[in-house]
Amino acid sequence: MAAERALQAPWWWKLVRPHHRTLVLGLSATVLCSLAAAWVPYWSGRAVHALELRDWHRSRVDLAWMLAVTLVAGIGRYLMRNILIGLSREVERLQREQIFDFLLAMPQAFFERNLIGDLMSRIGDDVNTVRMATGPGLMSLLQTASLLPMTLALMVHASPRLALAVLLPFSLLAVGFYFVGRASHRLQQRIQVVTSRLNTYSHETISGERVVQAFGLEQLRVDAFAELSRQQARMNINQTVLFGMYLPLSSLTAGLSALVLVTYGGSLVLRHVLTLGDLTAFTGYLAALAWPIMSLGWSANLFQRGKAGQERIDVVLGSAQAPLPAAETAPPERTPGPAGLTGRGLVHRFESGRGLGPLDLDLEPGARLAVVGGIGSGKTVLLQTLAGLRQPQQGALALDGAPLDWDRLREHWAGLGWVAQEAFLFSVSLRENLAMGRPGASKEELWEVARVVCLDDLVHRLPMGLDTVVGERGVALSGGERQRTALARALLRRPRLLLLDDALSAVDAETESRILENLRGFLRDVTLVLATHRVFVAELCDRVLVLEDGRVVQSGTPQELAEAPGHFARIRRLQSLEREILGEPFQA
Ligand SMILES: Nc1ncnc2c1ncn2[C@@H]1O[C@H](COP(=O)(O)OP(=O)(O)OP(=O)(O)O)[C@@H](O)[C@H]1O
Ligand SMILES: [Mg+2]
Repeated sequence: MAAERALQAPWWWKLVRPHHRTLVLGLSATVLCSLAAAWVPYWSGRAVHALELRDWHRSRVDLAWMLAVTLVAGIGRYLMRNILIGLSREVERLQREQIFDFLLAMPQAFFERNLIGDLMSRIGDDVNTVRMATGPGLMSLLQTASLLPMTLALMVHASPRLALAVLLPFSLLAVGFYFVGRASHRLQQRIQVVTSRLNTYSHETISGERVVQAFGLEQLRVDAFAELSRQQARMNINQTVLFGMYLPLSSLTAGLSALVLVTYGGSLVLRHVLTLGDLTAFTGYLAALAWPIMSLGWSANLFQRGKAGQERIDVVLGSAQAPLPAAETAPPERTPGPAGLTGRGLVHRFESGRGLGPLDLDLEPGARLAVVGGIGSGKTVLLQTLAGLRQPQQGALALDGAPLDWDRLREHWAGLGWVAQEAFLFSVSLRENLAMGRPGASKEELWEVARVVCLDDLVHRLPMGLDTVVGERGVALSGGERQRTALARALLRRPRLLLLDDALSAVDAETESRILENLRGFLRDVTLVLATHRVFVAELCDRVLVLEDGRVVQSGTPQELAEAPGHFARIRRLQSLEREILGEPFQA
């Protein structure tokens, strides 16, 4: 088992393997640097020995050699740094892109199980720990690995006995490193978990900052944050204490070696077994080995951190969720005309047992369907299922008569206009937000959809017009303005299937009527499904479904339902009363 594990490629190999050419180049530079550096003490030892023999000429030649190898070592080190650190930056870039691509390919259910702050910490902190391991960590390891054998060979060549004696303390160090390294890895895993909790907590608190302030929760949040932050600091300090043992241990080892060198080496010189030049060279070898060996502890620490980071990244990347079909660079061909959609036995229930289905649905091309029902009756889940954003657990959808399987999702989305219940805008300009519906739309087209959703007045009033930046998630706009922007974005797409999830709930009744009037022209070639709480919006449709706990309890034309007892007739009575009180005659 242990042997099997030892034969396995190290965790970082799969990251570095695609860059094996660069790695070979970097390794060559490292070997060049180490080989040259190892010979520096050799030539200085020879120069001293020549001095011992009063051979000035030889001493000068040896010194010239020493200078030459120092120069080569310098060049090698320069190349090594540039190549290997560059490689780790490339690994970092690719890994970050891989995680980002992966996240974008995840279905909605994935984001309901993972916290945003935690995912962010994997893209940020964890990728960074991996970079430190594959960059400075790997470089230092390669350097030590190439310098050690060469220096050892030169030492053994000069005096095997002294080499053995001087290196004995270093074997003790290796054992110490092993134990400290193991403890450090375990601690690092815990640090990264707390760091990620800290990220999630701060992300959530700052996003919900208005709620925190309005409810006076600042102190509570600050205290909880401080506790997490204290935990993180305590663990980091423990890590520093643990890591701090490397340096004194290494210095102690180096000191012990120096002691052995002077006492035992000195006695060898006195007994004429060794020349003074050899002893000088040995001092140089030890000095040359001291840093690479000390840095072993440092790079071991970087590898522990990197390994812990990579494990956390792998947990996300190894998530059992099937990714969505890849987005093609060219959007899929759009089928002309309005979409036809059927659903048979659709079920999507959450752990709580709430949700959708079983439910059957037939949408002829060009149909207009309103979905009504109480709060939590499953309207949103139904629309998300029709949009292909949620996979039904049972049952199947068919688009234009053919099964809407996983591979056809992109085709479905190409013709889909989707307005979510909570409009989401990006922190770019209004123009860019709209154009996400159809990149490359002309200015006239943008203005046209802005007019349909009665947004043109607002745009005229804004000092920067369409170029106004809407702030994070569109905070610089009112709720109704955000909703209308989201609707305009969906219309600009000229969809075959338009799904509106309570898309005008934050718009006043008068504007809503105007928008619905303007929409008529737009809806000619569209199949429409809208979820709404407002009866007079539903009455624009040919058919109404009434949902209760995810099931259809009533269905029919608005007129039929208005006359039959049930949810629809009840809210219709209430809302017509409300309209009369407000002075607006209700026209069914
Ligand atoms: N992501 C989720 N995880 C767990 N339960 C959920 C999730 N989304 C919705 N639900 C539950 O499923 C049920 C249906 O929710 P849905 O959002 O479809 O209601 P709705 O009819 O759109 O309500 P509203 O009128 O308030 O928008 C609710 O009881 C809700 O609690
Ligand atoms: Mg809803």
